[in-house]
Order: sequence, then structure tokens, then C-alpha cells
Amino acid sequence: MKLLWNIVLVALCGVSLAEDFEPELPPVEFKPVRELSGDIPTCRESDLNINECIKQGLQLITPRMKYGISELNIPPLDPFEMGKSSYSYNSGLLQGRIAMKNVVVHGLSEGIVDKVNFRLKNGQVRMEILSHVPQMLVEGAYKADIKLNDLKLTPKGTFNVTLTDVTMRARPTGELYERDGHTYLRLTKLETEPKVGDLRFYANGLVPDPALNDVILDFINQYWRQLYQAMLPETLATWQPLILKSSNDFFAALPFDMLVTKN
Ligand SMILES: *[C@@H]1O[C@H](CO)[C@@H](O)[C@H](O)[C@H]1NC(C)=O
Repeated sequence: MKLLWNIVLVALCGVSLAEDFEPELPPVEFKPVRELSGDIPTCRESDLNINECIKQGLQLITPRMKYGISELNIPPLDPFEMGKSSYSYNSGLLQGRIAMKNVVVHGLSEGIVDKVNFRLKNGQVRMEILSHVPQMLVEGAYKADIKLNDLKLTPKGTFNVTLTDVTMRARPTGELYERDGHTYLRLTKLETEPKVGDLRFYANGLVPDPALNDVILDFINQYWRQLYQAMLPETLATWQPLILKSSNDFFAALPFDMLVTKN
């Protein structure tokens, strides 16, 4: 479930048009989970409708992301505070560096789980999760040294991005292993494919003149798809190892056989 939202974050970071930087997710202390309270949804391995069960379980958990679920080591994720980051761009349209701080993401707890496909065979787990978030808002402060379509800029100010209909296809694969009488999941691969339906970008301080600032904003909003597409592969390549590690920390603390029980 944490995993799901980690994956959604990849979509956001794609929107930040990032590549070649050192990302960092907020630190979480993963305490070993000994038992689950009754309000945490679980599924049975033998359930013929296990896909529907997992889907409903994820959907039940999602609104609770707002406040976090401490017994599962899930911190509050809506709003999600991303802190500082620094990005390098090198696409045709955009080159240079952008630093961001106090970045906050709103809307993750409104996510909708559309489809789950879970397969467990010989201790190997394969999943496919389709989900979408109707609307997200990302806001923060930025400072940059960039070339935007041959226009040299050294702007500084605040920004916000409204993302509409962010869809996510995630394909985690992993293997089960035994430890201290429980079965745990270790993910080996995490493929994600985030898509953004629409995007509206706002920033002040791009240039001192507000009228020119608006002209540049219009350009960015007109070409956001090209910018997003150019940067997404690098962004995913950068973030996926980090998200895989964070997901594995999550699953190392939470026995998989508590979520999907053997009987
Ligand atoms: C983005 O920031 C601008 C300027 O501060 C503000 O007018 C606008 O309402 C903000 N957008 C959202 C969705 O908060």
C-alpha cells in the first residue's frame, strides 16, 4: 500500500522533469510488525477472488494515507512533504539545473485503485496494479540556472503544479522467503508507467517582469507534454532503485503472510 503511493510519487517526480540528481525519500523508521489490528484488511491466498480482495483492501487503506498508519510503518502521505531536491536537465527544450525546497504534494489519499492482478506461484509473486489519482497539487520553492528553448534564465521563486488524472500502471515482482516463522516478500523488480492526463504549471520569479513571466508560463504549459516525455525515462531510472529499497524496507518489517494469509 505504501508501495502504491511510492509509485505514484514517481509520476510526480517525472513531472519535476528530473534527471541525474540525488533523490531522497523522507526517512521512516520501520518497526517490526507483530500483529495487525482488525481494521487492516487482509486476504486469503486460497480466495478465488483474491484480485478483488486486494483491490478493495488497497482502496480501504488509501484514504487513511492522510494520517498515516503507524502500525504498518506508513507515515502521513497527504500532504506528502518531499523536502529538498536538485535536478539536472538536458533535453532539447530545457537544459540546466533546478533546486527545489519545501515541496509538498497534495491529493495522494484520493487515489482510486482500478485493477489488481496478483499471481503467486512457487514462492514467486507477480503483481499488476492499475490506479489513478483524480487531482494532485504540488507546490514549493525553486531556484534555477537554465536554458529554456534558448532563453537563458536564473529564476527564483515559488511554483505550483496541478496534475489531473494521473494514472499509474505498476508491475512489482518479487519472491517470498521465510524468517522467524513468518513469510516475507522481497521485491526484485518494480516497473512503473505513470501517465498524466493534464498539467497546469505556475511559477513566479521566472523573470522580474510579470508580463514576460506570464509569456514564459504559457510556453511551459503549451509544451508540458514534450518536456514530461523527454525527462520521464531518466527520472524513472533514477527513482526506481530508491523506491524498490523503500518498499523492501516496508516488506521486511511486515510479514507478507499477515496481509495475504495462508488460510
Ligand atoms: C498557484 O500559485 C498562484 C500564485 O500564488 C495562485 O494564484 C494559484 O491559486 C495557485 N494554484 C493553486 C492550484 O493553488
